[in-house]
Amino acid sequence: MTRTIRFRLNEALHEIEVREESLALDWIRNEAGLKGTKEGCREGDCGACLVLLGGRNPDGAVEWRSVTSCTLAMGELDGKHVVTIEGVSSAGLTPVMEAMLDEGASQCGFCSPGFVLALTGYLVSGARIDPVEAMVAVEGNLCRCTGYGSIRRAASKLAGAFAELPAASADRIELLAERGVLPPALAALMLQPPEPVGADGASGSVAGEGPVLGGGTDYFVRNPDPEPGLAPRFVYQSADNRFIKATTRDGRPWVEMGAATNATDFFTSPVVRAAAPGIERFEADVASPPIRNRATLAGNIANASPIADMTAMLIALRAEIRLAGAGGERVVALEDFFQGYKKLDLLPGEVIAGIAFPADWSRFAFEKAAKRDRLDIATVNCAVAVRQSADGTIEAAAYAAGGVAAMPLRLRELEDAMTGARPSAELARTIGTLAAKAGSPMSDVRGSSTYRTRLLERLAWAACTRLWPELRLEEDLLS
Ligand SMILES: Cc1cc2nc3c(=O)[nH]c(=O)nc-3n(C[C@H](O)[C@H](O)[C@H](O)COP(=O)(O)OP(=O)(O)OC[C@H]3O[C@@H](n4cnc5c(N)ncnc54)[C@H](O)[C@@H]3O)c2cc1C
Ligand code: FES
Ligand code: FES
Repeated sequence: MTRTIRFRLNEALHEIEVREESLALDWIRNEAGLKGTKEGCREGDCGACLVLLGGRNPDGAVEWRSVTSCTLAMGELDGKHVVTIEGVSSAGLTPVMEAMLDEGASQCGFCSPGFVLALTGYLVSGARIDPVEAMVAVEGNLCRCTGYGSIRRAASKLAGAFAELPAASADRIELLAERGVLPPALAALMLQPPEPVGADGASGSVAGEGPVLGGGTDYFVRNPDPEPGLAPRFVYQSADNRFIKATTRDGRPWVEMGAATNATDFFTSPVVRAAAPGIERFEADVASPPIRNRATLAGNIANASPIADMTAMLIALRAEIRLAGAGGERVVALEDFFQGYKKLDLLPGEVIAGIAFPADWSRFAFEKAAKRDRLDIATVNCAVAVRQSADGTIEAAAYAAGGVAAMPLRLRELEDAMTGARPSAELARTIGTLAAKAGSPMSDVRGSSTYRTRLLERLAWAACTRLWPELRLEEDLLS
């Protein structure tokens, strides 16, 4: 579907008609002729196509995040500002580039624009500035020739040089312009996103037919060159669909979220962190920063992968989803939404409109075994949430596992074994034994059925040691 959008690319304002489902990467390279945005994997994996995306968040504040332009639809750009390497470097070498040069962090240079933008975006974003976080910012970038030691040194150097950045985004962007990280003219524009043309007459609502687009991080990997007429519906177009709020039901605290809530919103939300204490420790287990900046929870659920990480987490929080369609709205427990491999309880035209879960958990843990430590999909994952009384008794437990059946599972037998018990190594062993009996793992390239069964047990042990670190359960379990 075509529509007119207004967006800024670096310092230039554009108002053009675009095919909503065409990719920003292609437009930037082929129409705008900015070849510094590279095409590597075209699957969100390598970071060569990274750009900075600015706009107003649902509260109206200016927000800047790094995103992969190979998974970014042109239809998303209405009212947005895109900054590429050409925009950042228009006034010459920046301190980010100098740090990379000084440390020898570039050889062939193909990946370098992506690294420079990831680090620039990190300074702009308002995240905590330290060497560890600076390396997290480049977790979505691959370099095939330099080796990461020099990149780590450059990131660390920058973290030292910019340790004290103001919290308010306007002050921070102004200071980054003063210190040469951003060209001053560009920095001034970064504080004023353009007015959108608006969704009138476009596919701006969830009503209608056809696939719904969330952040596009699964959709565009499957459809790298979407056919005209595929016409996904754009959930993102409505800020109303991106929110996280604390509510109550029958006097009990709950969290409610809109379908366009993305992984970064979720893991950084104080409401979510209070509802599931410890959940923020597992943010880095899900994809990379530029993917998390776009990946919605609803997309993670509707993609229906048996190893979807956020789906496992949400099942363990006993989430329910609100489905909206022509026949009105209905609510289903998340685990009941899955009916078989990629088979969902979703009627034609229906969409996930919201997600909600009880907010009175005491502790939360997630475990994931994959071939790579970071930026890989799970072989097996599990998530567990517990509510404990003052004396430590487990009053309620919820346990989910992925990668061991055609769909994500909620393991009620484990939950029953945990409820009423006190945490101990013996309980961890019981949970591990029950977990190993759950599911019917298949053998595939990521692991044999035997290996997955073993993982179910060991991930259950690991989850228990993570839930109750003060008990040092590992000393008993591994002795
Ligand atoms: C490099 C990379 C790394 C990744 N790493 C991980 C990882 O570690 N763990 C993990 O779990 N996933 C990972 N993913 C997968 C992906 O990022 C997530 O599944 C993400 O949450 C999908 O959300 P999205 O908004 O991008 O979905 P989209 O791609 O927009 O949509 C996915 C599917 O859901 C449907 N859909 C979207 N929104 C709705 C809705 N509201 N109602 C009904 N249907 C809807 C779409 O039609 C589509 O079929 C990774 C992806 C990439 C590219
Ligand atoms: S081209 Fe590799 S992440 Fe986009
Ligand atoms: S410098 Fe060649 S890929 Fe990184």
